[in-house]
Amino acid sequence: MKEKLEQIKAEATVQIQAADIPEKLNDVRVKFLGKKGELTAVLKGMKDVAPEDRPKIGQLVNDTRAAIEEMLEERKMKMERAIREQKMKEEVIDVTLPSRKNLMGHRHPNTIAQEEVERIFVGMGYEVVEGPEVEYDEYNFEKLNIPADHPAKDEQDTFYINKEIVLRTQTSPVQARVMEQGKLPIRIISPGRVFRSDEVDATHSPSFHQIEGLVIDKNISFADLKGTLEVFAKELFGPDTKTKFRPHHFPFTEPSAEVDVSCFKCGGKGCRFCKGSGWIEILGCGMVHPHVLEMCGIDPKEYTGFAFGVGLERIALLKYEIDDMRLLYENDIRFLKQF
Ligand code: DAH
Repeated sequence: MKEKLEQIKAEATVQIQAADIPEKLNDVRVKFLGKKGELTAVLKGMKDVAPEDRPKIGQLVNDTRAAIEEMLEERKMKMERAIREQKMKEEVIDVTLPSRKNLMGHRHPNTIAQEEVERIFVGMGYEVVEGPEVEYDEYNFEKLNIPADHPAKDEQDTFYINKEIVLRTQTSPVQARVMEQGKLPIRIISPGRVFRSDEVDATHSPSFHQIEGLVIDKNISFADLKGTLEVFAKELFGPDTKTKFRPHHFPFTEPSAEVDVSCFKCGGKGCRFCKGSGWIEILGCGMVHPHVLEMCGIDPKEYTGFAFGVGLERIALLKYEIDDMRLLYENDIRFLKQF
């Protein structure tokens, strides 16, 4: 019996040392100390031992069990320590390594130009408002005094959703929407996307942006319009910029004008940039037509006002000397990064 116990202990020792993962160690525990384990088998054989030898053998079994348990415990602790050390080695953080750089996006040239225009007008006390891109024909045309047979209403120019609803072809319908609210005086700009059934080329796109301006108050005159746009042009293109108002026609303003600024590249002498003329056209404007005021619930005998509309892409192209509008929509990061 004693020899058997010695043999069990020796075998257990070998197997415990050989176990390299906690699971294997547990297998060894079950094999020797478990209910069906080898040591339990020895205990079951006690009935064959002479009664006077039983206490001695019992003691020996207990000693063997204790010895195996101790070895198991020791091995387990060693194993755990090794695992912990391995983990610490793997998880080490080198604080001296350079950090990973986050690639930051930045604003699109259109957005930069829009925010610049907004900054200028907000500085003059204007409020920035928005209108719907899908608009009623009534607001896009009728209330702006654009007659039913106007060429702009042709399906070749306007995207129709149905007979009454269009993709707005200009930001001007926001004028009517703001006037109708009846809160006077009005001093707003309204930037936004507009749509026209145009083929894509260097200067055209079926979707582009405009910024509308509208001022309505008592005693607003053409002089106010001129002064305002002069300040705007100087702020946007530099303090030496001159402005020129050329008579023009828009159905919703009377009188109407187109505004040119002196070429900021050559100062007005004439260059490739201004096509030799010294002037660059930037916007349309005029005094709000009395009929438009009336249709929008404002008494033209009491109130007058002016309006203007700027093409945002045109401003961005001019300001950043980009010669092809398509570049603004291609989302090529190598292009966009430059602004
Ligand atoms: N809506 C015009 C266009 O798309 C631009 C414009 C001209 C707007 C004169 C105005 C204005 O407010 O007074 O061509």
